[in-house]
Amino acid sequence: MQLNMSNFINLFYQTVMSEELIINKNSDKATQYSELLPQLEALILGESDTIANISNLMAALKQAFNFLWVGVYFVKADELVLGPFQGPIACTRIKKGKGVCGTAWTKKTTVIVKNVEEFPGHIACSSESKSEIVLPAFRSGEVVLVLDIDSAELGTFDEIDNHYLGQIIQLIERII
Ligand code: SME
Repeated sequence: MQLNMSNFINLFYQTVMSEELIINKNSDKATQYSELLPQLEALILGESDTIANISNLMAALKQAFNFLWVGVYFVKADELVLGPFQGPIACTRIKKGKGVCGTAWTKKTTVIVKNVEEFPGHIACSSESKSEIVLPAFRSGEVVLVLDIDSAELGTFDEIDNHYLGQIIQLIERII
């Protein structure tokens, strides 16, 4: 969808007023992400509180794709600490370099895990998790948080997710 001013304003009011996301679930994944992105922009427009905005972004991602778990971990000293999330209760702290999240932090890059059982050191916060993607967000070249998404299916995530979730990371980087 083209993000011109008219449909941006429409989406803003549709999103904020109706609390519904408008996504064609019959479309391919890339199209659904493309439909979601302007609605995410609208969702955080005019609100300056970081936690409030990240909370709603996580809720919108969960609502749009019904992932098992969607959330962020903030870098605090030598650990990741749980931030806003949607899904089952999760590990509160993850040491640097540990698990998929800690690996994305230390390597400063997205980590895609098709099968969590095949990732050495994977931290199983939920036994239902089968595959996972973690993307780091940066401020001044340093990782400040990671976005973690878990799926109850094997092989859910690929470069399409990395591409579009990367755009959501850019949104987050604007507000942290
Ligand atoms: N599986 C992650 C831990 C976080 S939970 O999935 C929410 C990891 O290995 O880092």
